[in-house]
Amino acid sequence: MKIAVVGTGYVGLVTGTCFAETGNTVTCVDIDQAKVDKLKSGRITIYEPGLEQLFDRNIKQGRLFFTTSLEEGIKDAKIIFLALPTPPGADGAADLKYVLKVAEDLGPLLKDYAVIVDKSTVPVGTAEKVQKKIALGAKVEFDVVSNPEFLREGVAVDDFMKPDRVVVGTNSPKARKVMEALYAPFVRQGNPIIFMDERSAELTKYAANSFLATKITFMNEIANLCELLGADVDSVRKGVGTDSRIGKRFLFPGIGYGGSCFPKDVQALAKSSEDANYEFKILTAVMDVNETQKTRLIPHIKKYFNGNLKGKTIAIWGLSFKPHTDDIREAPSLYNIDELLKEGAILKVHDPESMDNVKKVVGDKVQYSHTPYEAAQDADAIFIATEWPEFRTPDFDKLSSILKNKVIFDGRNLYDLNFMKEQGYVYYSIGREVIHG
Ligand code: UDX
Repeated sequence: MKIAVVGTGYVGLVTGTCFAETGNTVTCVDIDQAKVDKLKSGRITIYEPGLEQLFDRNIKQGRLFFTTSLEEGIKDAKIIFLALPTPPGADGAADLKYVLKVAEDLGPLLKDYAVIVDKSTVPVGTAEKVQKKIALGAKVEFDVVSNPEFLREGVAVDDFMKPDRVVVGTNSPKARKVMEALYAPFVRQGNPIIFMDERSAELTKYAANSFLATKITFMNEIANLCELLGADVDSVRKGVGTDSRIGKRFLFPGIGYGGSCFPKDVQALAKSSEDANYEFKILTAVMDVNETQKTRLIPHIKKYFNGNLKGKTIAIWGLSFKPHTDDIREAPSLYNIDELLKEGAILKVHDPESMDNVKKVVGDKVQYSHTPYEAAQDADAIFIATEWPEFRTPDFDKLSSILKNKVIFDGRNLYDLNFMKEQGYVYYSIGREVIHG
């Protein structure tokens, strides 16, 4: 099948590459000439495990193309994906200007029946708006379908190739057939393609992400309470998560959720509710709690250093909003860097993938270290912001010999408490006993 993907950001590039992998011919369209030039020359623009291999292979096989021309990109395409950004506007609602502009441009370019698919996370009712914009210039029949993505960064290729489910919103039998054929290779294990109307599909995406953000936030509040009541959140988490109605996943407390999806989607759903004259109270609480959770360890750090961080060197391990990505959007690390700099601390930071991105935002206000040990050298404390696997079992003998103080503030609960006791560390984590060294 011939497919076009308009918007070659994170979602667009993964979508285009994975559809090429199952034998489709895919053209990715983007207005950013520099990006398209780079992709055309075979260089990938994002870091995502496993993607580069598929990207290389499909370019070599002549199934994956890039262009800045919408007209050229959608030529003969039976399916046109819109994977455009929907950033939050000033009022928190998703801004549809990119999606609607492309929809308007598309109309006159359609030469034959095509299915236009909204892949971006968009508010309920967007499919109808897209339909109207295309209809302004279209002379042929077309359908607009909502097909939200559920890709986690870091495992996006896997999520795409083996999805738990595919959600497709359409009332058109013709579009349904096209979408069924397209996704057939991805659901061979028996996972479902769930068909529904467009509005329900649009809401499903927001409901899923907001529910997950709520689940994490609930556990973060339980963790905060554990600290006050002398309970251990690891035990509570296991005790709770083994109830199959609750489930073990997404119950890990920490310094809050970040990334390009959860914060934006929770905010957008709250805004949609408000616009519908419904106060979605849980979502307001989730946003509030997450805001304070990000800097949950700061008061402990200040107290430990008797309220004075001036001239104290703190090593920050992990900067990306979660492991296996270089994405720092809404990363809790950035909020902590701000707070610690305000207090006059000297920061030596390390992240395996995201330091270049952090440099663009933070510049030379912090020192960048090639390894976690380089960051820890002569530091007064370590602060862990992201649970990269390589931080899980560091060489503690080495660490103890290079740190000025054996103190760790751990925002991701990486270490066993008894082990830290044995190692003689002062150790603060989330929802667990403080180890005093
Ligand atoms: C998310 C959704 O999972 C995906 O389905 C959606 O389509 C896009 O948004 P992503 O943003 O890549 O994916 O990250 P995810 O792995 O879901 O983690 C989101 C945030 O929650 C991270 O900041 C992570 O650190 C945090 N988190 C996750 C926790 O704090 N505790 C947990 O138990 C799980």
